[in-house]
Amino acid sequence: MNKLAPSILSADFAALGEDVRKVEEAGAEYLHIDVMDGHFVPNYSLGIPVIESIRRKSVMVFDVHLMIDNPDQYIKAFAEAGADILTVHAEVCPHLNRTIAAIKENGMKACVALNPTTPLNVLDYVLEDLDMVLLMTINPGFGGQKYIESSTRKIQELRKMMEARGLEIDIEVDGGIKLNNVKTVLDAGANIIVAGSAVFGGDIEKNVTDFMKILGEA
Ligand code: DX5
Ligand code: ZN
Repeated sequence: MNKLAPSILSADFAALGEDVRKVEEAGAEYLHIDVMDGHFVPNYSLGIPVIESIRRKSVMVFDVHLMIDNPDQYIKAFAEAGADILTVHAEVCPHLNRTIAAIKENGMKACVALNPTTPLNVLDYVLEDLDMVLLMTINPGFGGQKYIESSTRKIQELRKMMEARGLEIDIEVDGGIKLNNVKTVLDAGANIIVAGSAVFGGDIEKNVTDFMKILGEA
C-alpha cells in the first residue's frame, strides 16, 4: 500500500500546528518527523517536546526519523512522545539487532535507514525483523536537495531481496522526491514516499492531493 509521508522539516515552524492540520485534512496518513543532533548530520532540527505537542493535535502515523548518534538512549522517550514508527540509521547502531528489539518492546514499528552509499548487505541478518526500511535518496541533513540517481537501482535491489525471501516490508524513500520523479521510485519498488519541500513549498493541500493521485491513494 502506497503512503505519502510529508516531512515537517520543510514546514513553517512558527505555524507548525496549522501546517500539520493542512496535510492531515488533505488526506496524508503518515507524518515524517526528522530529528537531527548536529553530530550524525551537520544540522539540528526538532526534538521530543515538539513531537509531544503535535501528538496532541494529530492522529496521523508519526514516522520519526532519527538522524542522531546513540539512538538507543532515547527509544523509550520517543515512544512516550508519541512515535508510531521509529527509524534508526544502521551507520550508528553497532548492535542493530538489540536496537530493533528495543524499538518493538516499546510498542513501535521498527525501521532501519541507510545513507545513499551504505550497502544493502548490512540488512542481511535483520531484514526479517523489520517493519520498514528507509533508503535515503540524498545525504541526510537538509531538505530541498537533489535526488541521487543511483538510488533507483538500490530500491530495485532491495525490493528483489525482499521478494526473494517472501517478505512484504515497506520501503520508504526520503530526499529529493518531487511530483516529477515520484513515479520512478514507485516503479522501482518504494511504497512510502517522504516529501518535504515538494509538499510544504506553495499550496500544501494541492501538493498533497497531487502526490496522492500519483500514489493511487486519492
Ligand atoms: C533530510 C530529511 C528529509 C527531508 C527531505 O535529512 O531526512 O526527510 O525533509 O526533504 P525534501 O523532500 O525536501 O528532499
Ligand atoms: Zn527524513
